Amino acid sequence: MSAYICPVCGVPLVKTDKVMRCENNHSYDISSKGYVNLLGPGKSVRGDDADMVAARRRFLNSGSYDALRGGICKVLEKIPFELLLDAGCGEGYYTKQICEKFEKAEIYGLDISKKAAEKASSLCKNANICVASAYRMPYADHSFDCVLNIFSPLAADEYKRVLKAGGRLVMAVPLPEHLSELKRIVYDSVNIKEMKDTDIPGFSLVSKENIVYQMKLDTALLKDLFTMTPYYHKTSYEDKMKLDSVASLTVTAAFSVFEYIKS
Ligand SMILES: C[S@@+](CC[C@H](N)C(=O)[O-])C[C@H]1O[C@@H](n2cnc3c(N)ncnc32)[C@H](O)[C@@H]1O
Ligand SMILES: [Zn+2]
Repeated sequence: MSAYICPVCGVPLVKTDKVMRCENNHSYDISSKGYVNLLGPGKSVRGDDADMVAARRRFLNSGSYDALRGGICKVLEKIPFELLLDAGCGEGYYTKQICEKFEKAEIYGLDISKKAAEKASSLCKNANICVASAYRMPYADHSFDCVLNIFSPLAADEYKRVLKAGGRLVMAVPLPEHLSELKRIVYDSVNIKEMKDTDIPGFSLVSKENIVYQMKLDTALLKDLFTMTPYYHKTSYEDKMKLDSVASLTVTAAFSVFEYIKS
């Protein structure tokens, strides 16, 4: 049986050929790409738009975040898991590698953006990808051994609900110095803020690994990188255009990968 539950009545969903259906006859089509939309009635799709998804895909395909992906897989190697959820999986760059490295595991991915889910399901044929909100996940209680959060909104209460006892949360976040050189080009003044408190209610920290390195990026990659950040939509057109005159730039990539256990 899959971990999916009906977003309307909360009972398990059973997969038949191209449909997922609950015993109360609520049914959800599996798209031709392989994902299922479980946002629930009346819920609109938000999340990253097509431009952000495409920019992230080009940037990630350049290999610039491969070191982070490798670091996340190393953390996962220490965790015994059969069912893993990539919450806010985007277009599946990390999900795909996890499917390949942990062949025996059952991998789920969720994203609120239909465009992202579409890409993720094309990329990760063996993963179970759905469109849904991380704050209202269509999975039964205590389904997963591990939830992964890579730069996605933190829905700690839902993670806690869907994790088994002793389940792990692996979370990647940017460090304050992440992309500082790029920000200095775009903005007149840049405040390097202190790292936020990393306590998560209901979880205890098991380990923390920092991954810091330099990336040499050309104009196109700099623009893609900026487009996939949360700052993009808050930045004026004039400031965004400043990147056009930079032929190449060495930029710091700096992340922390946290492993928590459900307490
Ligand atoms: C910065 S991206 C990270 C994507 C992916 N983890 C990666 O690093 O390539 C954040 C992702 O979270 C998704 N997202 C935003 N709000 C969400 C929500 N409430 N529920 C589920 N996904 C959400 C966005 O659509 C986007 O794909
Ligand atoms: Zn139902």
